[in-house]
Amino acid sequence: MAHRLVSGIQATGTPHIGNYFGAIRQMVQLQEKYENFILVADLHSLNQIHDADRLRSGTREIVINYLASGLDPEKTTIFLQSSVPAHAELSTILGSITSLGLLERAHAYKDALAKGREANLGLFSYPVLMAADILLYKPEVVPVGRDQQQHLEITNDIASRFNHLYGQTFSLPKGIILDEVATVPGIDGQKMSKSYSNTIGLFESPEVVKEKVMKIPTDSRRPEEPKEVDTLLALHRLISAADLPEIEEAYVKGGMGYKETKERLAANITSFLQPFHDRLAEINTKPGYLEDILVEGNKQANIQSNATLEEVKERVGILSL
Ligand code: AMP
Ligand code: TRP
Repeated sequence: MAHRLVSGIQATGTPHIGNYFGAIRQMVQLQEKYENFILVADLHSLNQIHDADRLRSGTREIVINYLASGLDPEKTTIFLQSSVPAHAELSTILGSITSLGLLERAHAYKDALAKGREANLGLFSYPVLMAADILLYKPEVVPVGRDQQQHLEITNDIASRFNHLYGQTFSLPKGIILDEVATVPGIDGQKMSKSYSNTIGLFESPEVVKEKVMKIPTDSRRPEEPKEVDTLLALHRLISAADLPEIEEAYVKGGMGYKETKERLAANITSFLQPFHDRLAEINTKPGYLEDILVEGNKQANIQSNATLEEVKERVGILSL
């Protein structure tokens, strides 16, 4: 049997370079090696977005970003979580073996409450639906950013409990969390996140990239002074290839001012994003392309996930007639 990979992104806003380095790039690289199932977590987004137009456009945006980032529908099954009913069904079944304590400890839930988000049931049970997203495809690996590590641990806890109660059904998937990109900083130095308005989007124009990069906070060191590892250098390490050694050296020994470091970063980000713009332009020339991909992806995902759901129903004693 082919080795599978599952991952996804919520449809809550424009994907950014944090999503790309933290998760999407691994999805793209690994599509050569694994049978990829990549979803748009639109049901998850419902616990945050209560505006139908925003959800619709957010969902399309994620699919476009997947394609523009290099996910190839010939190699990767791209689908909508909501178009595969087995996700909601398995989530209901797993909910019955998930303790409240496990969910109460989830950082993402606690952080959302601390930021004043509405404490709805969807937000609380988020990790159960995510466990269903993953376990339905029996994957070997799940590439994500560091902020999803605990959700993966919860998935494995739920899978182990299921196996313990009903017999070996799920093997435990491994997270792929790359240290060097685990948390990409945003232009304010905090984690780059849609909810902090500190992102650089994958389709950002050169003008906006420059404007945003120039705003990155720096200290008062003069050009000739040595600098600390900061947000600017962290972003250079991700984006800049050819001039990185020179910039690293100038940071350690001094010799380059923040203004020049920023200008180079903005230019490098703009060149890095060019292929994304090119693929977007190409996608826009094909009407109905997105829909065709999703119809096929949804079909494949339904086939795979229904097989697991049937097995689960049998195990738990749900009559399937
Ligand atoms: P989200 O946009 O929260 O649905 O995240 C989608 C994927 O991108 C998840 O795997 C996250 O862990 C990852 N991700 C989001 N923000 C960052 C970041 N600043 N650095 C690294 N990975 C990230
Ligand atoms: N919770 C993930 C995030 O916010 C998105 C997600 C939903 C996901 N279902 C998934 C990621 C399944 C990996 C596998 O980033």
